Amino acid sequence: TAPVHPLDDGGALPAVGLGTYPLDDTEAEKAVAGALGLGYRLVDTALNYGNETGTGRGVAASGVAREDIVVTTKLPGRHHGYQETLASFEESRARLGLDYVDLYLIHWPLPRQDKYVASWKAMIKLREDGLVRSIGVSNFTAEHLARLEQETGVLPSVHQIEMHPGFPQAALRATHDAKGIRTESWSPLGRGRGLLERPEIAAIAAAHGVTPAQVVLRWHTQLGAVPIPKSADPARQRQNLDIFGFRLTREEMETVSAGPHRRLGGDPEEHEEY
Ligand code: A2P
Repeated sequence: TAPVHPLDDGGALPAVGLGTYPLDDTEAEKAVAGALGLGYRLVDTALNYGNETGTGRGVAASGVAREDIVVTTKLPGRHHGYQETLASFEESRARLGLDYVDLYLIHWPLPRQDKYVASWKAMIKLREDGLVRSIGVSNFTAEHLARLEQETGVLPSVHQIEMHPGFPQAALRATHDAKGIRTESWSPLGRGRGLLERPEIAAIAAAHGVTPAQVVLRWHTQLGAVPIPKSADPARQRQNLDIFGFRLTREEMETVSAGPHRRLGGDPEEHEEY
């Protein structure tokens, strides 16, 4: 199993987790149960992935004690608003088949809709009621985070953002570090596209006797970020968890994330996830 980071709200976040997008229920059940069997203790789903049922079944089938697993799910954009968030959470919780969820995130801010502060107030309520252990957000900007703090006095414990060597998010990570927010990385392998074939990453991998994916995931953890690589393949799942037996030098860290830098996914200000 991976080391565990304490969160500012008393919760805990394993240093690597399993992503489940875009697995369907059947695939997710198998992938989650398999990963938990290999030692994963963090799983990541979302109402919008359409696989909460499979994810919950995988958790149940794994035989791993519930209290040892951190289950994450997310509020979709179309359910923003105070009452809507409470109702959406209940839908997710029921699909997962769990009494409580460990980490609940606002999936996207949808700033033009301008309801994320109301949603955040509902997240705070869910945590107070013990239905959620830790609360966070995803795909926010520093300005959106500041607004949550100003209007509610409560900052997210976790911010899940697009992050990989092709989009290293230095500025946002500095904000997180200053405010005690843990960074989580989605598409940590840059969706596999090109990144894992880069010759400089292959050379670093060869020098450590590991794979390019392990180099990239190790890069995340050395920056304090928690990667959630998706794979349904047991050999890759095993590889992606086995990243704590070597250390990248400062120079290697810089080589891994040398530019050019650009997003692969949606822009927080624009993305209209439904
Ligand atoms: P697969 O699901 O067939 O294993 P990201 O998490 O950045 O979105 O990347 C996920 C992509 O990376 C998937 O296409 C996945 O393929 C691939 N992938 C996951 N783990 C590894 C690995 N250890 N080596 C190579 N490719 C991987």
